[in-house]
Amino acid sequence: MSLPWYHTTTIYQIYPRSFYDSNGDGIGDLPGILQKLDYLHELGFETLWLSPFFASPQKDFGYDISDYLSIAPEYGTLDDAFCLIEETHRRGMRIVFDMVMNHTSDQHPWFLESRTSRHNPKADWYLWRDQPNNWHSLTGGSGWRYAPERDQYYWASFLPFQPDLNYRNPDVKRAMLEIVRFWLSRGVDGFRLDIFNVIYKDAEFRNNPLKFQLIPSVDNPSGFFQEARYNLNLPESFLLAKELRQVCDEFGPKLTLGEVSGKREIIRKYLGETENDGLTLVFDFAMLNFRFQADYFRRLIADLEAAYPAPFMPVYVFSNHDRRRSMTRLKGDARKARLLVTLQLTVRGVPCMYYGEEIGMTDLPLPFHSALDPLPHKYRFVPRFVFDLLGLTINRDDVRTPMQWDASPNAGFSSAPHTWLPVHPNYRTVNVAAQQADPGSLLNTVRAILALRRAHASLREGTLQLLDGLPAQVLGYTRQVSEERLAILLNFGEQTCAFPFSTGQVLFRLTPEDNLEAGAARLAGLGGLIVHFGS
Ligand code: NOJ
Repeated sequence: MSLPWYHTTTIYQIYPRSFYDSNGDGIGDLPGILQKLDYLHELGFETLWLSPFFASPQKDFGYDISDYLSIAPEYGTLDDAFCLIEETHRRGMRIVFDMVMNHTSDQHPWFLESRTSRHNPKADWYLWRDQPNNWHSLTGGSGWRYAPERDQYYWASFLPFQPDLNYRNPDVKRAMLEIVRFWLSRGVDGFRLDIFNVIYKDAEFRNNPLKFQLIPSVDNPSGFFQEARYNLNLPESFLLAKELRQVCDEFGPKLTLGEVSGKREIIRKYLGETENDGLTLVFDFAMLNFRFQADYFRRLIADLEAAYPAPFMPVYVFSNHDRRRSMTRLKGDARKARLLVTLQLTVRGVPCMYYGEEIGMTDLPLPFHSALDPLPHKYRFVPRFVFDLLGLTINRDDVRTPMQWDASPNAGFSSAPHTWLPVHPNYRTVNVAAQQADPGSLLNTVRAILALRRAHASLREGTLQLLDGLPAQVLGYTRQVSEERLAILLNFGEQTCAFPFSTGQVLFRLTPEDNLEAGAARLAGLGGLIVHFGS
């Protein structure tokens, strides 16, 4: 059996602005990423996903693109992007860009032209209406904005400066697929697809039905008292997934990872019905709100196994540039973080790790009023603690602080007097250099398990079987391919526990006390074992 590379790979997400600043302006850049490629290679990740670095007014830090074929000057040049692709490949790794197909910046020449009048060559490239309907944007409130030039309203699924393109216009689709082809022809290995689930809207702009739901949920992300029936997960979006897949296939096997949300049985449709002929992967965001309990993960794994059987593959993601960091959710407990990454890197799925997660970086709570992220400004009259209580990240600056490389000023991220966002003050102890020197660190745990994953086909390609009859606090599963079988045992409790278990060769232990001897496993609190059976 041999699965396509995009179903066996491991993904590391880089937020370029915060990764490494090579020219001392306080902002991370592409040459900075280039300088850190060896770090990523040695750590063992196989695929890099870069958040957007294209020309942009940076009102949403690159998720508002004004030219898809040039690079924002603070990040570098086109040549830097080509060089990064080449150097990543030279190390046997892959690189995936972030495609924001749903919307452009309101400063994109397409939109500037579109808004000038009702009759211009781009008049129909965006969604214009004489009157708004009742739809809510993903950030709350009406997503319609008035443009006096046309005496009409345009639709923006996210924030008002991010107008949605009209994919019912074949010229729009053609233009965007040409951009996709441009990057594929330059060697990019695929794309993460920004809010792909809202890309088509109802052709008749019917009003959404009302629903009592105060806070958006993963199932109904534009919540806010309505069901997003006519602006989310339309059948045409599933078809576009297939069309995009065909374009990618012109260039060989490419990864397409959809940022989609909605009910699990619906988001599955982006992958294809029985064949995986749509997107190759989708995020399943419910797990970003994980609870650190064996039972929670047992259910999650069972549900994902049922939802993404072969030839599909689930994605395991616990942090990203929009949501609370996993270490914050774990209240800074490195033992729990080590257990969580052991799970993430050994379960059947593609793991996607956010930069800094490998050293346990935590959120830095920053005030709303001075936020660089545009989102908190929309909610400036609501006190921050309300969102904290609801577990919502509104100021995404909190999770985008500079990477913590070492204990030198600015955590070794930049030589500038000021970095674009403050460095988390915990950088003196939480940093790459310190953890590299500590064999039991989170960083070295990630490295060790990634190495095991490369060495054992069962971890990359094997089937998964949940184990029954273990103590309630222990999560256990096996991974198997042909004769090779591995068992993973994880103790989510604080108490040591012992139970009968077949003897095999211990490949990895989370704590020195974790052991397998004479037909019994013994796991320390928050301990774990990876055991090898068979050839
Ligand atoms: C989702 C991205 O993850 C987020 O960062 C961005 O602000 C919105 N899409 C709009 O593009």
